[in-house]
Amino acid sequence: MPAASHHILAPDFDLVILGASGDLARRKIFPALWDLHQDGWLPDSGRIVAAARQFPDDFLPQLQRDCRAEQNPAWNKFAAAIDLAPDTNAAGNLQHLAKMLGPMESRARVFYAALPPALYAPLAESLAAAKLNNAPARIVLEKPIGRDLQSYREINAAVARRFAEGQIFRIDHYLGKETVQNLLVARFANLVWEPLWNRDHIDHVQISAAESAGAEGRAGYYESAGALRDMAQNHLLQLLCLAAMEPPRSLDPDAVRDEKVKVLRSMRPLAPEDFVVGQYGPGAVDGRAVSSYRQDADAPHSQTETFAALRVRIDNWRWAGVPFYLRTGKRMAARATVALVQFRRPPVNYFGGEILPNRIIIRLQPNEGVELQTLSKRPGPGGISLRPTTLNLNYAESLGKLPDAYERLLLDALRGIRTLYMRNDEIEAAWKWLAPALDSRREPEMYPAGSWGPDAAQILLAKEGRKWHNPM
Ligand code: BG6
Repeated sequence: MPAASHHILAPDFDLVILGASGDLARRKIFPALWDLHQDGWLPDSGRIVAAARQFPDDFLPQLQRDCRAEQNPAWNKFAAAIDLAPDTNAAGNLQHLAKMLGPMESRARVFYAALPPALYAPLAESLAAAKLNNAPARIVLEKPIGRDLQSYREINAAVARRFAEGQIFRIDHYLGKETVQNLLVARFANLVWEPLWNRDHIDHVQISAAESAGAEGRAGYYESAGALRDMAQNHLLQLLCLAAMEPPRSLDPDAVRDEKVKVLRSMRPLAPEDFVVGQYGPGAVDGRAVSSYRQDADAPHSQTETFAALRVRIDNWRWAGVPFYLRTGKRMAARATVALVQFRRPPVNYFGGEILPNRIIIRLQPNEGVELQTLSKRPGPGGISLRPTTLNLNYAESLGKLPDAYERLLLDALRGIRTLYMRNDEIEAAWKWLAPALDSRREPEMYPAGSWGPDAAQILLAKEGRKWHNPM
């Protein structure tokens, strides 16, 4: 049972996963629970209820494969803690679930909605009708909640009629990533960063979440979402908040979230020249020919963006004049999520030639770690000339295996810790800021699959004398 002893285990719990036979539950939630179980984080008294409209006959063996636990004798004990329940849309089924769960007593009770957001409001209603919404029961909601500010508000209001804000856990799995939390630790546990972390020293910041995968398999959802709703409204803006926020007064959930909201509210309204949208055409990824988004989605006239780049200006004392560039795309040349902080150049050049600016590159995934790009003297007895050199910290080598984001977030939901979950006002502020891009109906610029996105994205930075960092 590694490393569990100096942390808080989950309390006794009932975790109800709604949509348990769906893609998210099978790919992320159950494998994370299995890993938590194996690492000794879940008490034996914990109970998982898998609820779904339909279960395939071989649901549990399938789950065992999804969790890559085929050969593991510990699986049987884990599987024994999973009860199956019918779909919760029907009132009768909810009564059945309520009976199954029994009185809450001192157990944590969490309903995880691994469902499309359109079902959140009816779900909250049915849970309330079966008296399953009483505090401290919690409900976990996946992003993106809604399509814009208005639809978000409607869904949220419906859920909020039945669950208090403190019971609603809005998940953004990027916040559960070890490297994302490490951003907080880097900034606030190491004195060398924070004094430099401002407009006096930093030229600009880039946050880029590139995926080499396309929209295959999820096109039904993706066609109605697009990169702005799927990645920018949540993951990219959350990363930006953690990079840009002021030191919170503590790590209490509201202290951290107060600072994040301040960043979102300090962002200058998005102008038409601040964003670019793109869509992948046919191309090649890793030497393999791949089809266009329109083919993948079977939507020959689709205008859904699979790429977005945004220029953010934060009008506060720390960041005025320092642009933050955000970028995300499917079918890009590589899978790489990276935050780059580029410093200004030294005020005087003693050495001749170009002085490359220092850069901190935080590799959020894969190959998690931090690089500090510096300049060194090129060895030799002649004069001084400079050579770029890199200090490179690799987390896996230094710190060992990194758990999946869902492990941390599920554990926090069971423990009732909301720091890494999003508050209502954060989501409202994010939808509001993104509205000009969402409403623009701009035709996406095509880019070949396997590239770094459309030319317009390069131009967005080039016209300010800057260039995207493409990790390859
Ligand atoms: C999800 C998006 O939230 O994040 C997906 O819906 C995307 O489209 C995924 O692929 C990326 O997550 P990760 O953890 O692989 O970077």
